[in-house]
Amino acid sequence: VTDSKAINSCVIGWPISHSRSPLIHGFWLQKYGIDGTYTKRAVEPENLASFFSSMKEKGLSGCNVTIPHKEQAAKLITNLDDRARRIGSVNTVYLQDSALHATSTDGEGFCRNIETALPDWSFQGKSILMIGAGGSSRAIADELLRRGANRIALANRTIAKAEQLRLVFGKQIEPIGLAEIGNHLPHCDLLVNTTSAGLAGASDIPVDLSRLREDAVVTDIVYTPLKTQLITNAENRGLRIVTGLGMLLHQAVRGFELWFGVKPVVTEELYTLIARDIDPGYQP
Ligand SMILES: NC(=O)c1ccc[n+]([C@@H]2O[C@H](COP(=O)([O-])OP(=O)(O)OC[C@H]3O[C@@H](n4cnc5c(N)ncnc54)[C@H](OP(=O)(O)O)[C@@H]3O)[C@@H](O)[C@H]2O)c1
Repeated sequence: VTDSKAINSCVIGWPISHSRSPLIHGFWLQKYGIDGTYTKRAVEPENLASFFSSMKEKGLSGCNVTIPHKEQAAKLITNLDDRARRIGSVNTVYLQDSALHATSTDGEGFCRNIETALPDWSFQGKSILMIGAGGSSRAIADELLRRGANRIALANRTIAKAEQLRLVFGKQIEPIGLAEIGNHLPHCDLLVNTTSAGLAGASDIPVDLSRLREDAVVTDIVYTPLKTQLITNAENRGLRIVTGLGMLLHQAVRGFELWFGVKPVVTEELYTLIARDIDPGYQP
């Protein structure tokens, strides 16, 4: 039973137990003294449509949507903003005038993370080498081009998926196979991994970082472990690195603002809280 004054939101996924979103939003609810809740709910794919149609009855003002529902949710919700419509994926749902609306904040979260970590950085005119052409790659490519990136070499195991992104975003996207990564390294300003290949326990896609320019930046959107092998290798080579956890924090800002009415700030304190949940030995 929920308090009638409280504003309630949640994250839905299947499975959902791994989600750190309740920790992030819970931190902000407390920090800003807001009467609200943010929980996690396991929603099976076959129950996604009924979940959305009963959100108001459940007393929810909105929700975050994670794996595997991001694409299906974009099909079920009619009021998508331009960005969500372009990428066919949503991660943030909100009720407005009793109607469901949705957007995707992954691309913005990715870019804000880099801009916060590297205050002098601009995406304008940059050459990007991005590994992975899944759902998050699509959201990131959209935002990179919107922010003026010049070209994106897009490497994927299944090249047809990278070619699909070229059809959506145009000729600034160059689809390549994983074997061609090496040839593109010397020309790129920013190397991005968006594949799940570097997740805890799995091995990274091998990348010969010695071929990158000294001023290149390396980032990985995977944040378990906090430093993937790719990030550690880049750091050992003395390159500038940006870890993936910041993206998770920055993508959460817009949802919190939409549901709870306050634009929250991503702080070191929040980063440390979530980083310690992932790795209890984390030291800032
Ligand atoms: N930091 C954040 O806020 C944030 C946000 C979103 C996602 N993520 C993380 O990013 C990762 C990708 O998410 P997603 O939603 O984009 O997933 P997705 O749509 O399932 O895409 C997965 C991508 O990884 C590639 N891949 C998977 N295993 C591989 C392997 N063994 N070798 C080569 N390529 C492999 C896939 O290639 P194929 O197309 O060939 O299968 C595809 O490009 C996940 O680990 C997720 O947790 C982080």
